[in-house]
Amino acid sequence: MIKRIGVLTGGGDCPGLNAVIRAVVRTAMLKYGYEVFGYKNGYRGLVLNDFVKFTSDDVSGILDKGGTILGTSNRDNPFEFKVEKDGEIKYMDMSDRIIENMDIFGVDALIVIGGDGTLKGAERLYRKGVKVIGIPKTIDNDISSTDFAVGFMTAVDIATDAVDKLHSTAESYHRVMILEVMGKHAGWTALEAGIAGGADVILIPEIPYDINKVAQKILERRNVGKHFSIVVASEGAKCIDGKIAVETTNDEYSDRIRHDGIGNRLADYLESLTGIESRVTVLGHLQRGGRPNPFDRILSTRYGVAAVELVDYEKFGTVVSLQQNRITHVTFEEAVSQRKQVPPDGELVRIAKSVGVGFGD
Ligand code: F6P
Repeated sequence: MIKRIGVLTGGGDCPGLNAVIRAVVRTAMLKYGYEVFGYKNGYRGLVLNDFVKFTSDDVSGILDKGGTILGTSNRDNPFEFKVEKDGEIKYMDMSDRIIENMDIFGVDALIVIGGDGTLKGAERLYRKGVKVIGIPKTIDNDISSTDFAVGFMTAVDIATDAVDKLHSTAESYHRVMILEVMGKHAGWTALEAGIAGGADVILIPEIPYDINKVAQKILERRNVGKHFSIVVASEGAKCIDGKIAVETTNDEYSDRIRHDGIGNRLADYLESLTGIESRVTVLGHLQRGGRPNPFDRILSTRYGVAAVELVDYEKFGTVVSLQQNRITHVTFEEAVSQRKQVPPDGELVRIAKSVGVGFGD
């Protein structure tokens, strides 16, 4: 008999997280009469017993707010939790502590909202006996088993708006404008915003590019009287020698590699190869901030309601998902065993190529 559930947001924030929390809390309280504890800052809240007992009022007026009222973290893997002991930093498995904490406070089940890393942690907790349901979120949309993760469509909106704005200045000023967007391992944001904004070149991690072919595309445009070009590049796009633009590592993060710098690198090469002034805009965290669009608000609400329903049906160890516009659920393994990348010969790349977009391949 479920009486009390917990909810947390883990990993990078994105628009729509508050809408999910609202849907979880309202459905749990209004439809099932559960109490809901909101754990703060991802798994850290579960380890340290840092939570808020939600009232209905706590989730009023948050549907359209960016970020997450619970806070989040992508450094607090419960199985390798950083602790300071006798002046020394150690990484400890705190999963038993989590189970004890949940027992002490009578928290019967957990709803974990997160991307790849957070859902992998949830899967391990489930294997240890915790009753968990996952909800996928990531602006990268790289979680397999769902058509859309929370946050992605808003990020595409933001990136498309940037492409639109770059278009008018590029055209007036006769420049190559490069927009660097997020997407370390998957190019969905660059691809969709590039198509929606009418980019001339789209560079994504899944299709290694040859810089000479990118330059050639820009020169072909100039030769037919188009003195500007728009290039949308994922931060993780790779050139044919296999190298990523700039890569640094930070061991405290679950996904240790950080990429940035591809925009500047492309601008240098393209300016020297084409002779056309090339400028860069790095969209960065703007893609993750601000209000969720209506699609994400509705998706978040659908996912939040479905997750609580799965708790009621006791379908633990599952992740809600959207397939062909129907809400369903899959196992954690199906959700996290493989990253969803852009198929280089898939429909979206094909239609982009049909309308003249270059991929540098
Ligand atoms: O993994 C999602 C993501 O949005 C990546 O596209 C991006 O590289 C990363 O998060 C940025 O994360 P952080 O803000 O932790 O550097």
